Amino acid sequence: MKAIIGIDVGTSGAKTALFTDGGELIASYTGEYPMSQPRNGWAEQDPQDWWDAVAKGLNAVIYEARRKDSSLEIAGVGLSGQMHGLVMLDDKGEVLRPSIIWCDQRTEREVDQMNKVVGREKLIKITANPAMTGFTAAKILWVQNNEPEIYGRCAHILLPKDYIRYKLTGEFATEVSDAAGMQLMDIPGRDWSDEILGLLHIDRSLLARMHESPDVTGRVHSHAAAETGLPEGVIVVGGAGDNPAAAVGTGVVSEGVAFTTIGSSAVVYAVSDTVKIDLEGRVHTLCASAPGKWTVMSCTQGAGISLKWLRDTCCLPEVLASEKRDVDPYVVMDELASKIAPGSDRLIFLPYMMGERSPHPDPDCRGVFFGLSAMHGRPHLIRSVMEGVAFSQLECVEVFREMGVPVGDMVITGGGSKSRLWSQMLADLYGCPVSGMKSDEGAALGAALLAAVGAGLYGTVQEACSAVIKRGAALTPRGAEGEAYTPYFELYKKLYLTMKEDFKTLSRL
Ligand code: XUL
Repeated sequence: MKAIIGIDVGTSGAKTALFTDGGELIASYTGEYPMSQPRNGWAEQDPQDWWDAVAKGLNAVIYEARRKDSSLEIAGVGLSGQMHGLVMLDDKGEVLRPSIIWCDQRTEREVDQMNKVVGREKLIKITANPAMTGFTAAKILWVQNNEPEIYGRCAHILLPKDYIRYKLTGEFATEVSDAAGMQLMDIPGRDWSDEILGLLHIDRSLLARMHESPDVTGRVHSHAAAETGLPEGVIVVGGAGDNPAAAVGTGVVSEGVAFTTIGSSAVVYAVSDTVKIDLEGRVHTLCASAPGKWTVMSCTQGAGISLKWLRDTCCLPEVLASEKRDVDPYVVMDELASKIAPGSDRLIFLPYMMGERSPHPDPDCRGVFFGLSAMHGRPHLIRSVMEGVAFSQLECVEVFREMGVPVGDMVITGGGSKSRLWSQMLADLYGCPVSGMKSDEGAALGAALLAAVGAGLYGTVQEACSAVIKRGAALTPRGAEGEAYTPYFELYKKLYLTMKEDFKTLSRL
């Protein structure tokens, strides 16, 4: 049997999944790790934790697959992972400091610096986005400004999944879909921008070699083979950031289709044949994982993170009940939320637990429950968190529609897609059908399919998707429910604008 492997280095854990070359899942393993928040608005992870989880996952899936079929032949490995994270290595390839990850918001000053030295217009023209606190360039400047001794010893700058590539192959390589989120690329030209690098005093030699997503970037070396159970010499392709990889895993690889993913973050992602930019930076423009295409993408920073926070701080009874029933705690939370009507009995949640990017690029805003009453119980809190995340998606989709990016054919993926309640809420709010996937392996499947293309098993990414990706049933929008949300959504949109300055004041206390 010919097999392909997809690895997704996520925020709560790394998933390693082994598929047949036809995309059928044979074995999967997820190893979890912590995220540390040393200060309000900061978020870091230890790259060694990622590698430990991936090495364990590779051993586990290869053992399991060989037990089922001893003639297993691994054709290639594809990598995907959380975007925008900063990994810095010294000249011996050792990690210099914890990774500053995607949802970290410490770089407000560096964003001002970028606007001053590059200029807003030039940034948008070249990198297709205004300066963003969450993107990697601002994080690199933060280390330049605050930890010059570490910056002085830095020999390599990598993204999270590209660190795993280095551990597997010894190569310093990246690919366009993830590198686009570093804000150091010429997005129309799909390569590093010497002009931006020069203005920010970042030496090009620190950055990885650029590839397209399905390109072969290296082969598994002997140490990595011994540590992971992968045969030496197996190819590792470019892969993609977790969202562009999920695009392949859901078949969103040509113009006209879009997906919503609800994971730690929530993202709406649409493919475009040309570079389309929102000048206000409410949504991002990046290179797509399908060669020659671009994407418009929004990111709500605190989606699954908000529900996980509620689970861990308030929902012990639901966690205990789930243990008794041997189901996931979110299943029990979902059941409770389903009993509450749209609007959560006049309770509105703003999901800004990690600051926000889309549609409000604002590192200072924070989560809010608006309208709490003594009659509200945990079921209301759960439902209002789900509604707040869904409202944020609709607010982003309104920007897509304003930009002329069609959002009428939507698929849903990520952990949140397991909730029928959340998926139906999105269909009701978007006013369009929302389809699940037959196999919901999202980013891991997308990364594996990129490996299949790199190994020559399929000619193009689109061909791989047509052969493998199958949609599940679609949930259709229910007019009455959609309308019931309208006054809450209108108030939700107003609340950020009303509190914008107060969030700034709070951040200065
Ligand atoms: C996208 C983003 C998040 C991370 C999470 O811009 O920052 O979706 O990729 O894994």
